[in-house]
Amino acid sequence: MKVIVFHSYKGGTGKTTLALNTAINLAHRGFKTLVIDADLNAPTFDSIFPGIEPKFRFNDLFEEQKNAQNALKPEDLPTNSGIDPKLDIIFADPKPKFGQGLLSMDKNLHTKALKKLIQSKKEFEKLGYQYLIMDTSPSMTLASVNAIIIADATVMVLRPNQYGISGTTFLLKELYSMLGTLKRKDFMIFNQVVVGTPKKFIANWEKHFKKTLNVKTIGIILCDCGIALNLLHGNLIFDDAANVKFTQTMSDIVDNLLKELSKK
Ligand SMILES: Nc1ncnc2c1ncn2[C@@H]1O[C@H](COP(=O)(O)OP(=O)(O)OP(=O)(O)O)[C@@H](O)[C@H]1O
Ligand SMILES: [Mg+2]
Repeated sequence: MKVIVFHSYKGGTGKTTLALNTAINLAHRGFKTLVIDADLNAPTFDSIFPGIEPKFRFNDLFEEQKNAQNALKPEDLPTNSGIDPKLDIIFADPKPKFGQGLLSMDKNLHTKALKKLIQSKKEFEKLGYQYLIMDTSPSMTLASVNAIIIADATVMVLRPNQYGISGTTFLLKELYSMLGTLKRKDFMIFNQVVVGTPKKFIANWEKHFKKTLNVKTIGIILCDCGIALNLLHGNLIFDDAANVKFTQTMSDIVDNLLKELSKK
């Protein structure tokens, strides 16, 4: 099983949109895929998948009270997405308890949570999942860093403007000085790229990440109001005829991702 974490420095760059659409694309290719809403600060799955009432949520795994004597097993968490039989999802608590549980800054708690996460990863693999996709909270939260620690790959999603580029560069440098690369592969997706951006600019941004951090860009997605409009109608899933272009772009990105992940 490969773990792919979608992350960003700033919020609103498109992590949730791209994490879910990557997962849908993988499931459509026949891979058994699991997506976790690990954006514990601002979860979204309850609004994206209305009508599904999960019995347990991601946070429950880490709550000692609910999880006395390891009563809760990772296999109790996934629910089918209703989109593809191969695509399961795990919800987060829609009413975050700020400063508590996984949202606290307690390093001991997060050290324990990391152990639990590593153990859960093994359990998910035993359940036959081939890809585990995690959607995180932006920036350096302890819970997001734990997700990155267990990742085989991270996809950094950014809007390529001045602060998007400098912020993402800063974030990656911090991560490398804190963790090293841990054999993880990191990739960039430039999203919400302003229509009409000169090709030379895009080439320079790609060169910047390759040269300064040895990080490859695997996707460039233009700003497309159709994508935002879908969400406005409560629909984050673009697997329909009206969004052929976006679906194709996502498919190309997944091709790139699979190719890169299969390299030694
Ligand atoms: N390429 C795009 N063109 C236009 N709008 C986009 C594009 N990608 C995403 N959006 C829109 O941008 C907004 C933010 O997207 P999304 O929620 O996926 O970002 P996020 O990184 O998960 O945000 P957060 O950090 O708040 O969790 C949404 O309204 C989404 O529809
Ligand atoms: Mg999000």
